[in-house]
Amino acid sequence: MRLLRGTLLGFERDPGAEPDRGAITWIEDGALAIGDDGRIVEARAWRNEDRHRSGLEIVDWRDRLIMPGFVDAHVHYPQLDVAAAWARGLLDWLERQTFPAEAAFADAGHANEVAGAFLDALLRHGTTSAGVWATVHPASVDAFFEQAAARDMRMVCGKVLMDRNCPAGLRETADRAERASLALIERWHGRGRLGYAVTPRFAPTSSPGLLDVAARLMTVREGLVLQTHVAESRDEVAWVAELFPDSRSYLDVYERAGLLGPRSILAHGLWLDAVDRERLAALGASLAFCPSSNLVLGSGLLDLDAATRAGLAVALATDVGGGPSLSMLRALHDAHQVLALQGQHLDPWRGFYLATLAGARALGIDRQVGRLAPGCEADLVVLDWAVTPEQRRQQARGKDATARLFTLMMTGDDRNVAATYVMGAQRWRRPEPGRPGRSRRGPASRGRRSHMP
Ligand code: GUN
Ligand code: ZN
Repeated sequence: MRLLRGTLLGFERDPGAEPDRGAITWIEDGALAIGDDGRIVEARAWRNEDRHRSGLEIVDWRDRLIMPGFVDAHVHYPQLDVAAAWARGLLDWLERQTFPAEAAFADAGHANEVAGAFLDALLRHGTTSAGVWATVHPASVDAFFEQAAARDMRMVCGKVLMDRNCPAGLRETADRAERASLALIERWHGRGRLGYAVTPRFAPTSSPGLLDVAARLMTVREGLVLQTHVAESRDEVAWVAELFPDSRSYLDVYERAGLLGPRSILAHGLWLDAVDRERLAALGASLAFCPSSNLVLGSGLLDLDAATRAGLAVALATDVGGGPSLSMLRALHDAHQVLALQGQHLDPWRGFYLATLAGARALGIDRQVGRLAPGCEADLVVLDWAVTPEQRRQQARGKDATARLFTLMMTGDDRNVAATYVMGAQRWRRPEPGRPGRSRRGPASRGRRSHMP
């Protein structure tokens, strides 16, 4: 058994805008026990006698924060290289930057190389699970899942579905999309730690027939996720109104197609109305809140208070490459800015919930990850409160936990990620100054019995 000593933070449920402390696990000098099977045994206070227990490997992360790994609810791995490439809003960006970048994934070798680089980057940023988009090319999904399996990561991913309003190299018939998706579901869904997501890009690139295919695909196996985009920019909403004149709203296009349910996760939703929010809440679907992307593309500001009042589940996401960074800490910073501009507040406890368990819930993997509960898979991030001289000043003694978390959320990024664990094994360790970092694949190496990590 392995015992990680440090400050423990976890959530059992949404703590809410005025945080309900009963939803939060916070143990200043804590010990997280992890079994040889990579699962959490217990989260409790550190006991001095732990030092003398035989068969126990103690890893000393004192004065650091140990919490469930970040869960990025919505991210495009093929857009890694075009993150934050400039354009005049969403539709121009798709045409000018995104579609050309995705066309390159016809080459399986390229897909493989980018998938590996992307997953290593996630580990460096402390993200252990994500709702990931591939491209329309089936080989892009194979490449991603192969690389995720090599790192033993719990990942949800799917092939993009598009049959109109996109370049020829990315377009396919609804029939072909269905056959290719069925084969991928068969090959990957439920294999190891991998799950499949049916992934119609958005209404403008979908014929009604393709949306029907997506709905049918959702019925072929238990536990499939449906991911798409909705109401991200005003131009897009106007376009959808032209393409689907019979629908009451953009969201209604998806509801009529039978795409909305508890396993549906919709990115953005900035231009939904009150009826849409109520429908989503009633159907148990989730929104992926992508503030960094929304700011870069100038898409708008999510009204999180309205979503919360409607009882709608929301999870945080980077939306790379609309978003510029894979850092969920930077996404938290941007979430705060988006809300502050609307006179709303992001309480840091709720923020760290949105960045972890909320994503796991939205992706339907919260029984396995996103909590510090016994039996959960030990996918964890270890965060340094301060790595720069300024942060050391800002995190000076005397601040309470809320203030420290707020400072971390507003100033932190990948430099604050000291280590990342997957199934109890350390898969990333930030290098000491002057030494290269380590990213580990394959079976976990067993460390010494007791050590500084
Ligand atoms: N809407 C349709 N496709 C995309 C995409 O790739 N990124 C974002 N941000 N919005 C989209
Ligand atoms: Zn997206």
